[in-house]
Amino acid sequence: MQRSKIAGIGYYVPKNIFTNEDLKKYMDTSDEWIQERTGIKERRYADRSGETTTTMGVEAAKIAIERAGITPQDIDFIVFATLSPDYFFPGCGVLLQRALQMKEIGALDVRNQCSGFVYALSVADQFIKTGMYKNILVVGSEKHSFGLDFSTRGRNVSVIFGDGAGAVVLQPTDLSTGQGILSTHLHSDGSSAEILAMYNPGTHANHWLPQPVANFDDAEIGEMFMSHAMIDEAQNFPNMDGPAVFKKAIVKMPEVVEEALAANGLTTADINMLIPHQANLRIAQFVQHKLKLRDDQVHNNIQKYGNTTAASVPIALCEAWEAGKIKKGDLVCLAAFGSGFTWAGALIRW
Ligand code: ACO
Repeated sequence: MQRSKIAGIGYYVPKNIFTNEDLKKYMDTSDEWIQERTGIKERRYADRSGETTTTMGVEAAKIAIERAGITPQDIDFIVFATLSPDYFFPGCGVLLQRALQMKEIGALDVRNQCSGFVYALSVADQFIKTGMYKNILVVGSEKHSFGLDFSTRGRNVSVIFGDGAGAVVLQPTDLSTGQGILSTHLHSDGSSAEILAMYNPGTHANHWLPQPVANFDDAEIGEMFMSHAMIDEAQNFPNMDGPAVFKKAIVKMPEVVEEALAANGLTTADINMLIPHQANLRIAQFVQHKLKLRDDQVHNNIQKYGNTTAASVPIALCEAWEAGKIKKGDLVCLAAFGSGFTWAGALIRW
């Protein structure tokens, strides 16, 4: 029997810093409002034409691969999580395979938004445990800055998000080492799918929506996926009921941590480091309080990067490890919650 271990980890954030003051040039907001509600001081935005979700993923992947002591040609499977892909299709996985000149390996894209990385890690973990692959690259990357409404209309969403990427290389390790991913736990509740969603472009034709968002019946054939009217009505931007997301996140994130601990006969006292998805500092603080964790048991960095969705967990994990906050033998817990709703947890013996 074998487990999978994180053999290499890396992250990349763009150089361009966008402060709360910078946002005030585009919308009616304030540094005070943003910091008080979210903890965010600044975020990074990708170079407009020089960087994409894939290229940032590539930068993070290069570091993870080097730290694993292998080359891109040794990777035998890619799992790429993002909600802001370079193209509607094909996915970022194949673009990364091309950019890193990898072999003709499998490339899978995961669309689970904020819990995307933990889902992707879980998928990769299963392939390692069954012995199918030996070196899997798992990437979470987002270029949100291209897809947000920067007018006052979109301020409840746009102030939260930032760009960046994180990556890990998973390899097999013998059970006797005690090291590696102990378990992963995946959940969903589609009853609130529209609470945090981007409806268009899409094929829903108002089917699921209590209020129609576009007139599909009178639209010309060929103008239903994306029309001028949809753009005029700002339907190409995310919608979010922030308070509803907040309420659910503070229940489901601690729940999945407790579930992961119970599955391994452990308690919150055993956690050396919790990496909560960086949705909002207030959510992370609530989770910490509910689990009765000390400050040194939790790593947050949303203050600097905002919410980078699928990239937030690997960026924070890598940053905590680089800062010496995670050492060999430590128990690390990952917990994420986001659109879908989906939520997920993982326990790792480092
Ligand atoms: N600047 C100034 N005022 C704002 C802003 C802004 N950027 N955004 C909203 N407001 C105003 C609203 O218009 C509203 O004004 P009104 O009372 O005059 O109507 C007021 O502030 C309160 O709005 P709410 O949306 O109720 O504000 P809330 O206190 O809930 O905070 C927030 C909003 C920060 C989005 C919060 O609900 C939240 O963090 N929710 C969790 C959602 C989350 O984390 N999403 C991240 C992505 S999903 C994920 O990763 C889980």
